[in-house]
Amino acid sequence: MKLDNLLTDESATALAEDPGAVSSAARKVYVKTYGCQMNVYDSQRMTDALAADGYVATDVIEDADVVLLNTCHIREKAAEKVYSELGRIRDMKQERAEAGRELMIGVTGCVAQAEGREIIRRAPAVDLVVGPQTYHRLPEALRKARGGSKVVETDYALEDKFDHLPQPRRADVISRGVTAFLTVQEGCDKFCTFCVVPYTRGSEVSRPVAQIVAEAERLAEAGVREVTLLGQNVNAWHGVGPDGSEWGLGRLLFRLAEIPGLARLRYTTSHPRDMDDELIAAHRDLKALMPYLHLPVQSGSDRILKAMNRKHTADDYLRLIDRIRNARPDIAMSGDFIVGFPGETEADFDATVKLVEHVGYAQAFSFKYSPRPGTPGAEMKNQVEEAAKDERLQRLQALLMDQQATFATGLVGSIIEALIEKPGRQAGQIVGRSPWLQPVILDEKAGKIGDIVQVRIMRTGHSSLFAELA
Ligand code: SAH
Ligand code: SF4
Ligand code: F3S
Repeated sequence: MKLDNLLTDESATALAEDPGAVSSAARKVYVKTYGCQMNVYDSQRMTDALAADGYVATDVIEDADVVLLNTCHIREKAAEKVYSELGRIRDMKQERAEAGRELMIGVTGCVAQAEGREIIRRAPAVDLVVGPQTYHRLPEALRKARGGSKVVETDYALEDKFDHLPQPRRADVISRGVTAFLTVQEGCDKFCTFCVVPYTRGSEVSRPVAQIVAEAERLAEAGVREVTLLGQNVNAWHGVGPDGSEWGLGRLLFRLAEIPGLARLRYTTSHPRDMDDELIAAHRDLKALMPYLHLPVQSGSDRILKAMNRKHTADDYLRLIDRIRNARPDIAMSGDFIVGFPGETEADFDATVKLVEHVGYAQAFSFKYSPRPGTPGAEMKNQVEEAAKDERLQRLQALLMDQQATFATGLVGSIIEALIEKPGRQAGQIVGRSPWLQPVILDEKAGKIGDIVQVRIMRTGHSSLFAELA
């Protein structure tokens, strides 16, 4: 396969021997990632694609020959951040030019997809704009841009992306740690009226089973202990198993749980409408599937849910959680909320508060509604005043933080399993991760990175747990 050639260490050497590639050998790329986990995954794939072209990754922007901003378009603030960052990098590029050294600037991700050439108009220092479906073409786009032409690549071809997804070299997997993301699905067909994702990521596409299993096996073989499956609607994933039968995400999780070395599985983000029986059964039967579920609901008001085009009611959501908790009683819930969607009244907001009180979240993310260009929500006449949004967000976040603290305090005294991930910030400490995603601070003698250890929770920290080997 063409792709595999690109990926192995041997081919990198071969490329370095190619005179065309020598000129780019040891060039450094700095990638700054905004937005969701899928962008984190994509940033690694971009680095992997460029590694095959002789580029090495750097964490120091001043050392970089290429700066890529992998952007997010979800809220106005996220999108605008990119332009202020571009202002700073433009100054750097100017100084470089005076010193006779090149700096290429690329914008990738969802702002690239949404705004395309407009980015170069607003920020002429940008050399290339590459949308999320075309990262495998990044090395070529960069070569063109270095030749002096501005490059804009925003074609949609998700299947194509999956067929050509650059894979990391083994050494890079190891250096990235014992947990990894794995994209299984991309795009969204749900068209919630507030959301840009269906426009930036395109319609739902699932990666084939064999590709996913092969990638998970490669990760496990390199020492990864925990894999988080990613998708904008990860539980809309579907595929065909080796026996020719239709698989959903639940069946896929059963298959991945068989891979030796993979001790933990997670998936995110799921949509309430795509939680089927087999996925719930996976929560019941698979020890490797962590008892933590991020299941956004956005609002507790049926009127607002309808205006948002969520296609489920608050009651549908609550009944679904009951079913999941019956299957897996220790499951912890996480969610996303939007306050101040057009037309939201105090009564609607109270319904959200009531839903939150009923569910009891271990963690949650809440946002003020941000009108996005091109979405139906932005056209609605009944926009909510900023002051009301602020006030509701504060109230909701206070409640959610309270629930998060209650959940963490409830763990004190119990024995749990922690996956040791990295050295701690303070000498003598090591940091693990609880099944519910909390950092667990341990004495470094508790184990080595990659170990799963039984620990007793002694006390809670700001957002972490302090524990001792049990
Ligand atoms: N695919 C996921 C997540 C989408 S984006 C899902 O369906 O749940 C992540 C979160 O950002 C959303 O769940 C929502 O809470 C928030 N969000 C999306 N668009 C937004 C907007 N226009 N304003 C404020 N928050 C938004
Ligand atoms: Fe956006 Fe809704 Fe799709 Fe989630 S389900 S990505 S919120 S449109
Ligand atoms: Fe942002 Fe795109 Fe992810 S808009 S949240 S980076 S899918």
